[in-house]
Amino acid sequence: MLHFKTIIEPFRIKSVEAVKFTQRGERESALAEAGHNVFRLRAEDVLVDLLTDSGTGAMSAAQWGAIMQGDESYAGSRSFFRFRDVVQDLTGYRHIIPTHQGRAAERILFHSVLEEGDVVPNNNHFDTTRANVEVEDAEARDLVIPEGRVPALVHPFKGNVDLGRLEQALAKDGDRIPLVMVTVTNNSGGGQPVSLENLRGVRRLCDRYHKPFFLDACRFAENAYFIKLREPGQSGRTPKEIAQEMFALADGCTMSAKKDGLANIGGFLALNDDAWAERCRNLLILTEGFPTYGGLAGYDLEAVARGLEEVVEEPYLRYRIRSIEYLHERLVAAGVPVIQPAGGHAVYLDARALLAHIPPLQYPGIALANALYVEAGIRAVEIGSVMFGLQPDGTEKVPAMDLVRLAIPRRVYTQSHIDYVAEAVIGLAGMKDRLRGYRIAKAPATLRHFTAVFEPLAA
Ligand code: F0G
Repeated sequence: MLHFKTIIEPFRIKSVEAVKFTQRGERESALAEAGHNVFRLRAEDVLVDLLTDSGTGAMSAAQWGAIMQGDESYAGSRSFFRFRDVVQDLTGYRHIIPTHQGRAAERILFHSVLEEGDVVPNNNHFDTTRANVEVEDAEARDLVIPEGRVPALVHPFKGNVDLGRLEQALAKDGDRIPLVMVTVTNNSGGGQPVSLENLRGVRRLCDRYHKPFFLDACRFAENAYFIKLREPGQSGRTPKEIAQEMFALADGCTMSAKKDGLANIGGFLALNDDAWAERCRNLLILTEGFPTYGGLAGYDLEAVARGLEEVVEEPYLRYRIRSIEYLHERLVAAGVPVIQPAGGHAVYLDARALLAHIPPLQYPGIALANALYVEAGIRAVEIGSVMFGLQPDGTEKVPAMDLVRLAIPRRVYTQSHIDYVAEAVIGLAGMKDRLRGYRIAKAPATLRHFTAVFEPLAA
């Protein structure tokens, strides 16, 4: 019997989309016109787009087929009940509330339950989650384990919550903590997973202090597969069984179906508490839509329902996790500094370590992301001093890391695309001394990374 080491794409391709090849000079002009900010490029001028894994995945033939089955009734649509049944089977929660994407679920939950001065503990809040807590004048408190803050350190569950610090927070500020959240996988911390053991620990503390526990479940399936691979005693279970246990340990979740829903748009809020659910539904009607569609078309609900079934299939997850690891391995072998170990949806380049000659406030992450675009037509995103450096008082503070995230869309790029990305990053690392920093010429007061205009600094 042959034993294969190669993990192949668990699909064949029946519809393709051409990508545009451009010359280096054309990319230089496009980037200059975009104010040296890759968010402002036209996507058409990008060859391999690794800006985000959110809403950028390829849907299956079964999802496109389901789209034709969409029931567009305003109330009580058949597509809602199909969506509800799939989400309920997976999560076990009583109330399933569709939303147009993850941040809408966050806004509705937090606006319904937070009061001024409250504290929300999390491993790491994603930026929209943090913003939706802070807009309620509450504090978003990050309590990831110390290992989760050291880029080069290898640990199987770097997304775990520091249970000691969570207990301290509950003991000291308990009356101001209406819920505890955990993000799976931990996007801001490098796409790193959280173990079942850690989720059980959070559950125990929430029971002891009588607090509801919510998951930010965007990448729940990738997290479940890491548990299967890495947690003792879990290898014999299916990813779906593990995911069901993850959800069962919590009391509710917010979800962006643009990630592990394998859909281009969609999300949901799901929870057990009747009183909270009623408050959330009332707010939903005000801003998103009637509770059986929540800002989505009936066909979107169909696509998400089918996507949630496909995402827990083992051949898919084996390929998904391996394809990120494959890029990571090639970069590590070439000595490119990256966050260790590989995450579930992205590889994070350590731009501060690679471009040590560019000071953080000359934005090494922007220098690296821009050079990747000019040299290779690849679009990535800076997660560093531009994204997090600006303080509410207008001053700049250097954050812990300057990273460039290469987020891999689901089922979109083949191994040769990824080989090309590896070649580009390794080639660029070889000419790093030629890269220069940037200054910000113009920026808005909040979320400046999306629209800032940069100017390259002279050599
Ligand atoms: N939570 C996490 C952990 C996320 O990564 C995101 C989105 C959201 C919530 C918000 O969901 O975009 O549907 O409103 N992350 C994307 C990214 C945008 O690029 O990482 P959304």
